[in-house]
Amino acid sequence: MNLSRVIITILCVLSILHTSKAENDTDSLFTRVSEATLSEDGKLDFPQLATKYGLSVEQYDVTTEDGYILTIFYVAKDFNATNTPILLFHGIIDSCYTYMLRGNTSWVYTLAEAGYGVWVGNNRGNLYGRRHVTLNPGKDDKFWDYSLHEIGYYDLAATIDFIRNKTNSASILTIGHSQGTSAHFVLTSMRPEYNDRIKLFVALAPIAYLNNLEPPVSIAAAAGPAIAALLKTLNINELLENHSAASNLVTLLCSKGVVSYVACGFGTLFPLAGFDPAGLEEEFLTGVVFGHYPSATSRKSLVHYDQIVLRREFAQYDYGTIRNLAKYGSESPPAYNLTAVTVNVALFVGSSDGVSKLKDTEHLNNILPNVLQYKVMELKRWNHVDFVWGKDIMSEYLYPPVLELLEKYRN
Ligand SMILES: *[C@@H]1O[C@H](CO)[C@@H](O)[C@H](O)[C@H]1NC(C)=O
Ligand SMILES: *[C@@H]1O[C@H](CO)[C@@H](O)[C@H](O)[C@H]1NC(C)=O
Ligand SMILES: *[C@@H]1O[C@H](CO)[C@@H](O)[C@H](O)[C@H]1NC(C)=O
Ligand SMILES: *[C@@H]1O[C@H](CO)[C@@H](O)[C@H](O)[C@H]1NC(C)=O
Repeated sequence: MNLSRVIITILCVLSILHTSKAENDTDSLFTRVSEATLSEDGKLDFPQLATKYGLSVEQYDVTTEDGYILTIFYVAKDFNATNTPILLFHGIIDSCYTYMLRGNTSWVYTLAEAGYGVWVGNNRGNLYGRRHVTLNPGKDDKFWDYSLHEIGYYDLAATIDFIRNKTNSASILTIGHSQGTSAHFVLTSMRPEYNDRIKLFVALAPIAYLNNLEPPVSIAAAAGPAIAALLKTLNINELLENHSAASNLVTLLCSKGVVSYVACGFGTLFPLAGFDPAGLEEEFLTGVVFGHYPSATSRKSLVHYDQIVLRREFAQYDYGTIRNLAKYGSESPPAYNLTAVTVNVALFVGSSDGVSKLKDTEHLNNILPNVLQYKVMELKRWNHVDFVWGKDIMSEYLYPPVLELLEKYRN
């Protein structure tokens, strides 16, 4: 149970810091120290990164049906060429950055070079999704009253429709990573018309079932309700706001010079995501990744995933019997109907992934009606984040089969 104690301690510290407001001395000290230890790519914002690697970039606002305003980016090698639109949708406590962090071997760069018009999405709550037409994220708790469900049902839907409209396409290609895949499963099961608005969905480290987790991830999940209760008591609805004291502390601890790679790589990321120091080297994790990751999310998002683990079902949010009855008309939340997910999908999974376990992805593969390809990455050390951050191995093992598949659905 060591890990859960560590997590609780960290969360306590974070929650105390959370209450200390931005402009104070500790905060600016953290900012100064952490900024000093990051590499250039760890400090540039998304458009600056894309520009640095020779790409053209535009920024748009997408407004969801329930009023959230999401910044999305359009990146291409040449805006005047006929670029096939493709959407990249990121995972939990993550952002659009994830697909750009590897610079000239990143997803964004590789797809842009191959002639795709790359749309990089952001979900509500993260640094590029912290706006709403009426709600104030700093004041209104209601802003943070969302989970994976709304990210799929509203954010992904609005983003896809925005791109379809902008590019005059009936349907588009999409890639999702981790929670980005769960969001696809939510959307296409709840709103079947979206199955036809996606030509092909490439699912990297897909997550629907989480029934076969092992320690330490399973231990963290078991500690989830206690952590969530603590956060609720402290009225913390937003976790890891951009450059808040808590988020700066993570950057400080995880970037070069302090405990960095040992604590955040070997101590946290590898035990949770899977062990792969060769694919996720110190320079990259401490210099680049921890400048942009983790990104903010709601407490409710984490609770929803925890419910999926503990209830052993890929279902809607569990509000408790009485509220479930009012909301769903049943005592338990309805399961997402994966049989209704008829979109063309390709599943890419890693043997060393600590979150998307092979037994769970095999089950998913058996349930989804339209799987074009189910590929277990041949490299045994392939983990959860190697799909977006893996050094050299994405170019060697992942891009070729994905590009080949995308090519078939390009027109
Ligand atoms: C990326 O940039 C590095 C350093 O400039 C260079 O050595 C490498 O060949 C480039 N890779 C690609 C795929 O362009
Ligand atoms: C995140 O915070 C940094 C530092 O305060 C700021 O420069 C940046 O603009 C913020 N990003 C967004 C998207 O708000
Ligand atoms: C599509 O785009 C046009 C013009 O850019 C705009 O007037 C229209 O409202 C958009 N439709 C939707 C459904 O977003
Ligand atoms: C799930 O979707 C399938 C395909 O649309 C349908 O036949 C089935 O009745 C649905 N199941 C439930 C429980 O709604």
